[in-house]
Amino acid sequence: MAKVVIISGAGISAESGISTFRDSDGLWENHKVEDVCTLGCLKTNREETVTFYDGLRVALEDKKPNRAHLQIAQLKEKYKEQIAIITQNVDNLFEKAGIPHEDVIHLHGYMTDLECESCGHVYNAGYQRTIEVFEGSCPKCHSDQIRPFIVMFGEAAPKYQELYQSFDDCEMMVVIGTSGYVINTDMYLSPKIKKSILNNLVPSNALNDELYSKVLYKPATEAIDEIAREINAFLSDAVFKELL
Ligand code: APR
Ligand code: ZN
Repeated sequence: MAKVVIISGAGISAESGISTFRDSDGLWENHKVEDVCTLGCLKTNREETVTFYDGLRVALEDKKPNRAHLQIAQLKEKYKEQIAIITQNVDNLFEKAGIPHEDVIHLHGYMTDLECESCGHVYNAGYQRTIEVFEGSCPKCHSDQIRPFIVMFGEAAPKYQELYQSFDDCEMMVVIGTSGYVINTDMYLSPKIKKSILNNLVPSNALNDELYSKVLYKPATEAIDEIAREINAFLSDAVFKELL
């Protein structure tokens, strides 16, 4: 299992032109969470909810991974099982950077997928609106109850199990671009974690940065070289110790 866990949030994709949630002009400043991202929205406000995510999916097509995604992809390629990539993001920028989809744990869903509410089938929508994919019906059971493959507030998040498990063997945690309001990364800083890095643009009231061994308040694309150096040093050191 992985010695290094990299957990990211909206901030890592901000420089690729995807809005964060809680920064000024973030998505939750312009849309009400209760209207489009809360359990029950699909019952009470289906059209607006589907349209909201359709818009984000279409807009994803021309978004490009930035240096942070690309450097992480290189590290993953180099160290494979030694690094776990966990993200709260529903974009596909790690995948666009070259990481196989199955190697990225998307805790909150995946924008380019759709899910059938009738039979549970999950299928790829590319960058199309819901209605454009198989005319808005499930390719398996033909139901028209199709939803974005997104975990909304109040809904179960099955991938959290993988998040918890990834900390079993973790010795270094790297946090990039998350305010910590949904997943408070402070609570994973057990004594087993020998090194921890927190990178955000600005301090967040939800996180206690004194708990981390290194804190970088700067854009992820500027912090990533130092982060990569630290990960390389940590993992080469770990390999060296295993050889002794
Ligand atoms: N580089 C690094 N960090 C950045 C950058 C950047 N260029 N720009 C913004 N940030 C940081 C901000 O300082 C903030 O701490 O990214 C964080 C973004 O926080 P949020 O908007 O709260 O995003 P996130 O923590 O990913 O939200 C968690 O909330 O609404 C839900 O499901 C949604 O997955 C999302 C979850
Ligand atoms: Zn179906």
